[in-house]
Amino acid sequence: MQTPYRWLRLHDRAPALAYGADYNPEQWPRSTWDEDVRAMQAAGVTIVSLAIFSWARLEPAEGEYDLGWLDEVMDLLHAGGIAVDLATATASPPPWLTAKHPEILPVDAHGATIWPGGRQHWRPTSPVFREHALRLVRTMATRYGDHPALAAWHISNELGCHNVYDYSDDAAAAFRTWLIERYGDLDALNAAWGTAFWSQHYSDWAQILPPRQAATHPNPTQQLDFKRFSSDALKDYLRAERDVLRELTPQIPATTNFMVMGEQKPMDYADWAAEVDFVANDHYVQRGPRAQDELSFSANLTGHIAGGRPWFLMEHSTSAVNWQPINVAKKPGELARDSLTHVAHGADAVCFFQWRQSRAGAEKYHSAMLPHAGTDSEVYRSVVRLGETLRQLAPVAGTAQTPARAAILFDWTSWWASEQDSHPTDRLRYRQEALDWYSAFLDLGVRADVVPAGTDLTGYELVVAPVLHVVPAALGERLEAYVSGGGHLVTTYFSGIVDEHDHVWLGGYPGPLRDLLGIRIEEFAPLADDERAELDNGLTGTVWTDGITVTGPDVEVLASYKGGTPAITRRTVGPGSAAYVSTRLGPDGLAPVLRDLLSRAGVPSELPAELRGRVELAVRGDFHFLINRTAEPVELAGLPGEVLHGHPDLLEPRGVTVLRRPS
Ligand code: GLA
Ligand code: GLA
Repeated sequence: MQTPYRWLRLHDRAPALAYGADYNPEQWPRSTWDEDVRAMQAAGVTIVSLAIFSWARLEPAEGEYDLGWLDEVMDLLHAGGIAVDLATATASPPPWLTAKHPEILPVDAHGATIWPGGRQHWRPTSPVFREHALRLVRTMATRYGDHPALAAWHISNELGCHNVYDYSDDAAAAFRTWLIERYGDLDALNAAWGTAFWSQHYSDWAQILPPRQAATHPNPTQQLDFKRFSSDALKDYLRAERDVLRELTPQIPATTNFMVMGEQKPMDYADWAAEVDFVANDHYVQRGPRAQDELSFSANLTGHIAGGRPWFLMEHSTSAVNWQPINVAKKPGELARDSLTHVAHGADAVCFFQWRQSRAGAEKYHSAMLPHAGTDSEVYRSVVRLGETLRQLAPVAGTAQTPARAAILFDWTSWWASEQDSHPTDRLRYRQEALDWYSAFLDLGVRADVVPAGTDLTGYELVVAPVLHVVPAALGERLEAYVSGGGHLVTTYFSGIVDEHDHVWLGGYPGPLRDLLGIRIEEFAPLADDERAELDNGLTGTVWTDGITVTGPDVEVLASYKGGTPAITRRTVGPGSAAYVSTRLGPDGLAPVLRDLLSRAGVPSELPAELRGRVELAVRGDFHFLINRTAEPVELAGLPGEVLHGHPDLLEPRGVTVLRRPS
């Protein structure tokens, strides 16, 4: 990553939080454009993402470009004081390209072609697609590299949103190349994939395929490697576009919008972050219990993928989306609170999909900054108010996130591997378990950083590693060193089970963590849907239990199952400790367990007792964000600090107060 805040210097203005949206002027007559710029100015918009889906307009026939309209839009925005995050425009290939080269279309696991008609219908590994796309990137960079409105490059769009798993012949060839690089020779691959099982031994690289639709459970290591490969293939494509941009416009930072949200699991963004000049993320609230916790979790994780440096919220929604079964509109206050929660976790830009709500196309019922109703609407008025708020918060721009004393470890490999098929249960949800712990922290009013598994843990006093399923020897050693250095580690069921090849550690579970935790498990005991595990502390577990034997010294059983088997254990290791929770307790059950573990570790809440649970605290440098987690007013009286935004004594329902409290 380059200089972290370079992208903030839009037109060399003073640091400010950027504000804006995707702008799709090609969907509208020319007469609308001036009106757009005026309404953007009135709302305080400072940046728009342009040309994301414009390929067919920009290159109407192979090698023939029509850029005049985009020149005009760029000039118009610049004259209006609005900067541009300009797309490379490669996200959705035009019909002439797919008609001429159907071999760029992705293929699903059954061998069926993914046809054009939607968007992102291209194979990440297609050399033909890459040739055409990079030619467009080159054209865009050459034409607009020196344009004064250009603030950043927006590479493709949400890479992998629809096309990450491609099983085509191109993918098969690229997968083999990737495997040759990973394993060097077939013996190593055969060993890693455990091909002695079910007569799967390979004697020639050409025999190897992506895990296409098989008669029964495909080889698990083949599946895991295909997930690694598919993330890498898109990362490689990202690099290819970026390298063209760096060659032609080294002065312009380049990013792409990640999707750290919900169950978007195929792209390992912790591994992608080093490839972009600044991290950008898209986030959409998925309705359901604790949706706001999920937003905070995603923003928090994005901030730590960005290394604690500011990042760019590239998209979220002003109100409803169009792609959920029921698209609920946001309630009063939610638009601002959602935006400010991202800012609280390090976003230096607040952008939406999209500026003007479409009249036609699949997203015409998706909310926007300027809705169908026009400027005389509650959504637009809220958008204008948010613009004012972001101006008040300008001093926050550029500040790094202040590390918490506790952390939750998040690992894409464990996410991928723990949820594969042919496991003890298909009810386990990796991200949900991590999110449950995060909710428990929020309920206790204790800040926790959500950090990628590669993060240096030494600064953290307590680290929760939920369902850390894949523990290569080196990670096991790191966790041991963390604990012997005085750290307090908490882990859960189905952790420490396999190595990097998805081979089970032998001698009793959880292999490399067994001695550290001072426990041994002979057999898993997952629960049926109608079964509950009663604990002697009054809590109830679901999904999983383990038959634990305490084997180590200094192990305290904190809770047992009715019947006496240990359910929650904690081993003291010098000044540190290693605890194990063997069942799914959910956020409400985890809260008392975590309260006890935090108090033993000496990690306090930074909030006054009466605010804990009702208010989320996030800290960036001197700035303390207090976010109302409830739909009721919350009294704040007595908190020291200068008010930058909001009311000093009272948090409105869904309100946010920002205090400056120099440390
Ligand atoms: C994604 C895409 C946008 C739009 C939104 C709708 O984030 O990047 O183009 O489709 O979803 O929510
Ligand atoms: C069948 C098969 C075995 C094994 C078992 C597992 O019986 O013949 O090879 O897969 O199922 O239950």
